[in-house]
Amino acid sequence: MTLPQRVKLVDVGPRDGLQNEKQPVPAAVKIELVHRLQDAGLSEIEVTSFVSPKWVPQMADNAEVMAGIVRKSGVRYSVLTPNMQGFDAAVASRPDEVVVFGSASEAFSLKNINCSIAQSIERFRPVVLAAKALGMTVRGAMSCTVGCPYEGEIAPHRVAYLAGLMKDIGVDHVGVSDTIGVGTPLKVQRALEATLQHYDVDHISGHYHDTYGQALANTLASLELGIWNFDTSVAGLGGCPYAKGATGNVATEDVVYMLHGMGIETGIDLDKLIDAGNFISEALGRKPLSRAANALLAKRLG
Ligand code: HMG
Ligand code: MG
Repeated sequence: MTLPQRVKLVDVGPRDGLQNEKQPVPAAVKIELVHRLQDAGLSEIEVTSFVSPKWVPQMADNAEVMAGIVRKSGVRYSVLTPNMQGFDAAVASRPDEVVVFGSASEAFSLKNINCSIAQSIERFRPVVLAAKALGMTVRGAMSCTVGCPYEGEIAPHRVAYLAGLMKDIGVDHVGVSDTIGVGTPLKVQRALEATLQHYDVDHISGHYHDTYGQALANTLASLELGIWNFDTSVAGLGGCPYAKGATGNVATEDVVYMLHGMGIETGIDLDKLIDAGNFISEALGRKPLSRAANALLAKRLG
């Protein structure tokens, strides 16, 4: 088995992480987090989302956060845009990439974005066209590819169906998301294989929440299939307001520790990443939800 030699991580902490915090996080703190992540070597950061502030008030400062970032050359900044209203609002912020987000589960689609899977594709279609006309790439997040909080287990053919729809409307790259973190390695591989029917291995990411402690194992299982793009979240921040009980994405620090230990390059400085995770965790008044970060922080103290 040949594992990828290099892995690209997209830190989704500022978006997936901070969308789920009960306490308000000032825009200045979000901006500082993005700066620390780019200084640590992250080459793509999912900064915010242009969604309804009534649904997700935590992201209402989207434009302010995007405007406050001092951009670093070579770093890509992505934002979520579920419809044309979100896309139009995002354009002035000049994202490099926009993310449409659908679901393999009909019930989750309705709860999360208030429309069916078929309707969501019709909302995404003009977003893809408009983004491409402006030279932006489009990523498609696919939620509930293993399990759904409302429908239970999701069969791989439903993942293939959604991936096919994403491909048809011109989405460049898709993320196979285990939204509620129930997946185990073989189930996640089945979801990835279903996606591989429509996208090549270079255009698929893994996005694994760690609710059941399976996300690192699922990452390794993905590497075994040649997947080399992953969404991870600094300090393990995250969750989805419409997936109750789901915890954060796998911590970026834990994935970087694992990959570096396997001799796989990420371009990320683990020490600086740990500082970024510590910064946001202190701002939120808790310890990082990363085993590797806490172990290395304890070691620093001697
Ligand atoms: P809707 O109610 O169907 O939209 O919401 P609508 O077009 O009928 O409009 C209703 C109201 O929303 C109107 O305002 C619109 O102006 C407003 P009102 O007249 O009532 O004052 N509106 C918007 N406002 C700002 N930005 C917009 C926008 N669109 C409409 N883009 C909508 C549809 C998608 C907007 C809504 O359901 C929503 O905002 N949902 C939140 C979805 C969300 O952010 N979920 C979390 C992110 S996804 C996730 O975490 C999963 C992921 O990590 C992968 C994984 O782990 O699975 C990506
Ligand atoms: Mg997520």
